[in-house]
Amino acid sequence: DDHDHHDGNDDHELRVSKIRDGTVIDHVHGGQALNVLAILGIDGTEGEEVSVGMNVPSDRLARKDIVKVEGRELSQDEVDVLSLIAPDATINIVRDYDVVEKHRVERPDIVEGVLSCPNAGCITTGDEPVTSRFSVLEDGVRCSYCGTIVRDEIASLIDT
Ligand code: CTP
Ligand code: ZN
Repeated sequence: DDHDHHDGNDDHELRVSKIRDGTVIDHVHGGQALNVLAILGIDGTEGEEVSVGMNVPSDRLARKDIVKVEGRELSQDEVDVLSLIAPDATINIVRDYDVVEKHRVERPDIVEGVLSCPNAGCITTGDEPVTSRFSVLEDGVRCSYCGTIVRDEIASLIDT
């Protein structure tokens, strides 16, 4: 390998400390780290131990963000929604400092019950107990009930 290795992981390059137990969300597109935190419902007020690297040089992406959450493994629902804003992310489960599981996120065809439709007239936002349902497009999501398409503000639709 005759070109510089710049994934931020060499000892002299490490920007964000290793974690003991938890999840490392790696290869997040530059600028999406705060949306990743929003999706995970992390705002720091509950004492969560979280490290964030933003716009770190990377081999695979020009610039990447990285989010490390101590003491937490993610649910499939959370990973599904993450895939919408971080389609190239790698989820690394860390136990006792070792990466014991590593997988790329996969974009689901449908996300149910995790996003809320921004259309106030949509049946899913009224009093009826209708679970939200969006189909996943190349570049956004579409409400299965009213057809509203959301592209750039997906993180703001997260049900909290
Ligand atoms: N990591 C961490 N704490 C640990 C172990 C790993 O924060 N105890 C981080 C590493 O810094 C890296 C990511 O988790 O950002 C994945 O670790 P590893 O698989 O060892 O790195 P790579 O082989 O470079 O991963 P990839 O091939 O997915 O780029
Ligand atoms: Zn709708």
